[in-house]
Amino acid sequence: MRTDYCTNFSKNDIGKEIELCGWADSYRDHGGVIFIDLRDRSGVIQVVCDPKDSTQAHEVASHVRDEYVLKVKGKLRARSADMINPKLKTGEIEVVASELVIENASAPLPFVIGDANVGEETRLKYRFLDLREKGAFERFKLRSKATIAARNTLDRLGFVEVETPILTRATPEGARDYLVPSRVHNGSFYALPQSPQLFKQLLMCAGFDKYFQIAKCFRDEDLRADRQPEFTQIDVEMSFCNQDDVIAVGEELLKDVFAACGKDIKTPFMRMKYNEAMESYGSDKPDLRFDMPLIDVADIFARSNNSIFADPFKDEKGKKHNRAKAIVVKGGDNIFSKRQMQRFEEFVRKFGAKGLAFIQIKDPKDTAGQDNCVNFDGLSLKGPLVRFFDESDLKELVSRTELKIGDVVFFGVGAKKIVLDYMGRFRLFLADELGIINPDELKFLWVVDFPMFEQNDDGSYSAMHHPFTMPNNPDESDLEDITSIAYDVVLNGVELGGGSIRIHKDDIQQKVFKLLKIEPDEQREKFGFLLDALSFGAPPHGGFAIGLDRLMMLVTKSPSIRDVIAFPKTQKATCLMTKAPSQVGGEQMRELGIKLREQSKQ
Ligand code: AMO
Repeated sequence: MRTDYCTNFSKNDIGKEIELCGWADSYRDHGGVIFIDLRDRSGVIQVVCDPKDSTQAHEVASHVRDEYVLKVKGKLRARSADMINPKLKTGEIEVVASELVIENASAPLPFVIGDANVGEETRLKYRFLDLREKGAFERFKLRSKATIAARNTLDRLGFVEVETPILTRATPEGARDYLVPSRVHNGSFYALPQSPQLFKQLLMCAGFDKYFQIAKCFRDEDLRADRQPEFTQIDVEMSFCNQDDVIAVGEELLKDVFAACGKDIKTPFMRMKYNEAMESYGSDKPDLRFDMPLIDVADIFARSNNSIFADPFKDEKGKKHNRAKAIVVKGGDNIFSKRQMQRFEEFVRKFGAKGLAFIQIKDPKDTAGQDNCVNFDGLSLKGPLVRFFDESDLKELVSRTELKIGDVVFFGVGAKKIVLDYMGRFRLFLADELGIINPDELKFLWVVDFPMFEQNDDGSYSAMHHPFTMPNNPDESDLEDITSIAYDVVLNGVELGGGSIRIHKDDIQQKVFKLLKIEPDEQREKFGFLLDALSFGAPPHGGFAIGLDRLMMLVTKSPSIRDVIAFPKTQKATCLMTKAPSQVGGEQMRELGIKLREQSKQ
């Protein structure tokens, strides 16, 4: 129907007869001449409908309204000098219409496309209109390029793309399952896969050696800016490999995917042990675009004369389970007002802190005669905290945290899990307040040597990655001391992907199940097929999965994962456009053998 897309023309094409199709992005009647900005997925070009050139085109143009679908025949010409628009790719040219056809009309739009003030609810309800916004198409074009690059790289490396079932059994990835009732087997349910984890391991048992899939995964979990109930992974598994082999594939894949998106990244990425990430950054996905580490000061606090600070470290158990961490803001004393400091305390309290102590480092000239100050070596340490420490310990603090005049140092003390969590969050919060993060920087990192298990709030344990991860030392008596061959790839503080070397021996798998309190009967019932496969000559194997949506969110610098998913769900896991999930009729429910409880009917 058309010669090309609207913006695939330049001054070199002047004089050409062309045909274009698209939408009326806008129209203006200037004293008898009608100007239409014709838009397609490539952008816009100006169409001039002048009765002197074509009475037909001008007459039709007078009926055109926003978002009408048009077909234009005409000739390209240079715009007059005063009409040149340097902001547009086609700003120097225009189409003189000789024929105009309205292919379809449009009802008045419920909102202005691309208007940043329109609420997301409205935009999601009319997602097909929302996606007409130019930036949206660019994002999806990039996503397509990234996916194709991933396929090409994995194909080149000898990986074979295999589809795995969507109607399946639960795969424990730590979230709730989405269930699908069976009509044929009333009372039985399929689970939608949280990932293809077990199937890809079974393909290794089958001898496929290298597998990949651009796989849909489903997880019923609390949603956040970087989580959706249904999302896509670039899922990879390989046999006869060690951690370095898998990481090398992951890096090559990411390098090519980023190159396809116009970004050159350097490999290999740095690696950091899980423990160091947690102790120094309070997170297993540290943002390393800035430093500001958490510095251990437990020994200094243990010697303080205030029992609140000293008691947590008085015995070995306390030292293992409690932490005192300092974070220094260089020049912070000159930057932050007292009110800001109070807001900081409110922030950490939300994450379980009982308070936020700090010391300001001042010039002794400025604190003469003031309370709560200790002076030495040309510094004045100011804050209610200083009186709890000997001068030698304050000196140790200054040298360990490299404090200078104008700095401020904040402290978090208490249970390890809570302190690391709120100090890690506070580190990010401070970086944001200080505006020290370079949004264009891409800082990749592998976090390695994860613990095998983590303790839940009720005291029970779950696998930190998943129960199929190979432990390093499964015979350790304290579950918290068992580590695993698991790794996550992190970009700018976001977990992009994760993986592990898997258990390929049935006895180790059974042992891990047992440590997780999955008894033999339950093991057989839930994972009999896996245990069988492991007993028939399973090769050593491992792999990883990268969250494609998250990756595209970072590549396109989108604030929400929804921006890179064509038809996303809301924070409450609903689709406002199709109104899913929806109730189903009585007949369908009867076939499925399902009767709703009274209260859930409402
Ligand atoms: P994991 O559970 O770490 O590992 O998931 C891998 C990656 O998938 C992405 N991701 C999500 N993206 C959007 N919304 C979600 N709800 C969501 N959940 C996870 C993240 C994450 O890093 N089977 C293992 C992989 C393996 O061991 O090979 C797995 O699924 O980017």
